[in-house]
Amino acid sequence: MTQTAARTPTAGTADIDQVFLDRWSTRAFSEEPLSQAEIDTLFEAARWAPSSSNSQPWLFLYATDGPERELFNSLLRPGNQTWATSAPLLVFIAALKGNDEGRVFRSGQFDTGAAWMSIAIQAVKMGLSTHCMGGILVDDVHDKLNLPKDKFDVIAGLAIGRRGDVSGLPDDLQAREMPNDRKSLGEVAVRWSNS
Ligand SMILES: Cc1cc2nc3c(=O)[nH]c(=O)nc-3n(C[C@H](O)[C@H](O)[C@H](O)COP(=O)(O)O)c2cc1C
Repeated sequence: MTQTAARTPTAGTADIDQVFLDRWSTRAFSEEPLSQAEIDTLFEAARWAPSSSNSQPWLFLYATDGPERELFNSLLRPGNQTWATSAPLLVFIAALKGNDEGRVFRSGQFDTGAAWMSIAIQAVKMGLSTHCMGGILVDDVHDKLNLPKDKFDVIAGLAIGRRGDVSGLPDDLQAREMPNDRKSLGEVAVRWSNS
């Protein structure tokens, strides 16, 4: 996908809210801590996400500092450790697979995706950045964070904080520290026709 310095909505569309363009996955984070009120506000946004039968299958486990944070850092793949350990808030995102009555949450991961995006958008509104990471040690996250595999899908890690100085990143990541582009609208939204 082409890297661009700016994100341009598709010509002819009505204005989309700037918040969707302003959210992008930064790697340069300031180590400045987030207040507990800021952290709670981010997760409060997730709380209101829609889900199948209002099942709310998401679980966000987070750490900021101390031995808990050391453990969380160790559960990232090395490539993500190079930058995500600077972010003041590190989250692991899991989704319940079902409920105690035996109902399987077929859309649990989908619903949890909506909740993470709520956090991402709320973060932009608060002047914060987010960066989701699939590059995590999934088996170790299950094991060390007490998330049994029969009950939870471990989906991703999530770094959150204020933007930091790009010069603190390794050279290759400095070059990639910019918003990227998207497929064209016509590739992702197609008026279906039977003819
Ligand atoms: C589920 C998921 C997993 C991702 N895994 C990683 C990752 O391990 N490392 C990384 O640097 N970025 C990761 N990303 C960030 C994506 O590369 C990024 O969202 C994508 O390129 C679009 O760019 P944008 O978020 O800046 O708009 C991940 C994003 C998502 C949603």
